[in-house]
Amino acid sequence: MTPADADAVAALHVASWRGAYRGVFTDDYLDHQAEAERRQAWHARLHPPALVADWGVVAQDDTGRLLGFAWVVPDHDPTWGDYIDNLHVAPDLKGGGIGRRLMQAVAQRLLTSGSQRPLYLWVLDANTAARGFYERLGAEVRDLQLSDPLAGRQHPVWRCVWRDPQRLAAHD
Ligand SMILES: CC(C)(COP(=O)(O)OP(=O)(O)OC[C@H]1O[C@@H](n2cnc3c(N)ncnc32)[C@H](O)[C@@H]1OP(=O)(O)O)[C@@H](O)C(=O)NCCC(=O)NCCS
Repeated sequence: MTPADADAVAALHVASWRGAYRGVFTDDYLDHQAEAERRQAWHARLHPPALVADWGVVAQDDTGRLLGFAWVVPDHDPTWGDYIDNLHVAPDLKGGGIGRRLMQAVAQRLLTSGSQRPLYLWVLDANTAARGFYERLGAEVRDLQLSDPLAGRQHPVWRCVWRDPQRLAAHD
């Protein structure tokens, strides 16, 4: 992911939230605030001081259309390891294997960089579809708690953990 991807990533992020988080985030946030907030957030993320170790992966088709993305914070937590902060697939392409390929690409890149840490992320309690997806990919789902403020309030979230990301990278 490069700074040139910021607008496309922000647009896909908002479209995905509107599809998956309607009724979880407020309509006002999704319809009137998310677009500007996400654009600002992704531009800030992708134009950082060069020392920041976070990185993103994108899935694109032959025309360059963005199909999905993930954002990774390596070595984020002493216990839970490397952290995936966002994973989204274009709403019209869900269920086509892009999410699995993005997760595998993340695990493979972390392993190639020498990580021997677990991999983890947070998923909203309300997001039962994504929880099913992560369980299908071998995650241990645990530690229900309240999130940091997101779209104006805290939300119940589950931790999803892969203690052996090598298995995720090789998952078929
Ligand atoms: C969650 C998301 C990233 C998954 O990506 P995807 O491309 O739709 O999922 P895939 O097609 O790669 O699915 C991979 C496997 O998980 C399974 N799976 C997907 N959704 C599932 C569900 N709800 N329950 C059980 N299994 C599920 C698929 O059947 C597939 O298994 P298979 O390969 O054995 O057939 C995507 O649907 C998405 O962007 N959702 C909206 C945003 C979101 O919730 N992001 C996560 C935030 S934490």
